Amino acid sequence: MPRSVVILAAGQGKRMNSDLPKVLQPLAGRPLLEHVIDTARALKPDGLYVVYGHGGSQVQHALHADDIDWVLQDKQLGTGHALMQALPVIPDDHTVLVLYGDVPLIRRETLERLCSGADAGRLEILTVELANPEGYGRIVREQGEVRAIVEHRDANPAERSIKEINTGLMAASAKMLRAWLLDVGSHNAQREYYLTDVVGIAVKSGYKVDGVKVADESEVVGVNDKVQLAQVEAHYRRRRAEELMLAGATIVDPTRIDIRGEVVVGRDVYLDVNTVLEGHVQLGDNVTVGPNCVISDSNIGAHTKVFAHSVIDHAIVGDHCRIGPFARLRPQAVLQSDVHIGNFVEVKNATVGAHSKANHLAYLGDAQVGANVNVGAGSITCNYDGQNKWPTIIDDDVFVGSGSMIVAPVRISRGSTIGAGSTITQTTPEDKLTLERARQTTADKWQRPHKMSEEERSSIIREKTKKV
Ligand code: UD1
Ligand code: CA
Repeated sequence: MPRSVVILAAGQGKRMNSDLPKVLQPLAGRPLLEHVIDTARALKPDGLYVVYGHGGSQVQHALHADDIDWVLQDKQLGTGHALMQALPVIPDDHTVLVLYGDVPLIRRETLERLCSGADAGRLEILTVELANPEGYGRIVREQGEVRAIVEHRDANPAERSIKEINTGLMAASAKMLRAWLLDVGSHNAQREYYLTDVVGIAVKSGYKVDGVKVADESEVVGVNDKVQLAQVEAHYRRRRAEELMLAGATIVDPTRIDIRGEVVVGRDVYLDVNTVLEGHVQLGDNVTVGPNCVISDSNIGAHTKVFAHSVIDHAIVGDHCRIGPFARLRPQAVLQSDVHIGNFVEVKNATVGAHSKANHLAYLGDAQVGANVNVGAGSITCNYDGQNKWPTIIDDDVFVGSGSMIVAPVRISRGSTIGAGSTITQTTPEDKLTLERARQTTADKWQRPHKMSEEERSSIIREKTKKV
């Protein structure tokens, strides 16, 4: 049957104590609502509706998706009222799946179960057993059959002792939901139109209601405050870590890794503690990542070792490379095979050819570096004149001595050797030693400073710091 998904997201989220609307609070770096929308999309629905209220334009702006129909619920008169806002535009023959914008970890498989039950002509409600059901709507059953949902505030002591609760997620035919909602009133403790009341109404009219119990509680935890937000983040982290481990990665401590995007791992990847993986990350076979690394939107080739405290962002790293410790690869860094980028080396918008090395304290920016190049400690490309960025070309087999300033735009030709401490501003000839350096001198009369009195020191400072 055709499907429409309606995501209820009009609630205010007072308990967040935040200027950001609740459904925009970040889980793994993305808005809560975006997680729900992504799961909904995976069901390939024919219609996707988000009922919004508080922070409306901000929410729409943050999610900028053109497959969503936004439905305004002007006043938050309850979950039943919220669904009613979307129903007029949904055709009778659709199965409607109701999701909450603040229940982000629901699995697609669970939703498929609800939808197929609804396709078969039942009202499907998703439930869960909780040790502490305080605050939730309780599932009232007779001889195992669901009879009603009673909200905590409206429940009597016997009903309050029920541990099976309503998660809020449900599915049924649009036609039936429309009919049932007409009968829902607001004579309850909160003076709201409760969506949950459709259960009792359906039962009375002899319609089959099916309570599907979800086994993994984490799927249905809602986020109402920052404590629950952190709990959901922990569930999410654990889930993603398990996925990577099942795909063959060794994760030293699954509670100390953050996976905030689409991560693909090869075989025998090794991830040490406090690694953060963000966006689209691909790690080839046998990649090892040391402690405290941050890798965002990057590809790392097979057998490459990333050592502790390295930061890699929008970079492509070839196979058999050695990165770090304390290396920084910035956007558009492209390293070919067997490249070594060592401590305190920064690479930005630069390609580095096979077997090339910059092992200590260097900056390669807007550069094209060939193969078999060695960039000595403390050497940098001076790519910025204060107004414009300029490129540097370093051809194959170049040796750049330590402490060299390569002032772009400039080319270091194949086989050049640059003497340490040089400032290079012009194309160098191939296969020659080029250096730019004052002649070494020795001052015969010079003596080391003596320890001065305070008066002597002050008078020197006064004299030397006079305004001109
Ligand atoms: C609801 C259920 C309760 C269930 C609980 C699970 C009802 C009457 N109660 O209670 O049985 O155990 O969820 O968490 O449905 N919303 C709107 N417009 C409104 C009111 C709510 O869009 O007018 C949205 C909220 O943004 C939220 C969802 O609906 O995403 C649930 O609303 P909330 O007020 O949190 O419902 P609960 O009282 O927790
Ligand atoms: Ca709630």
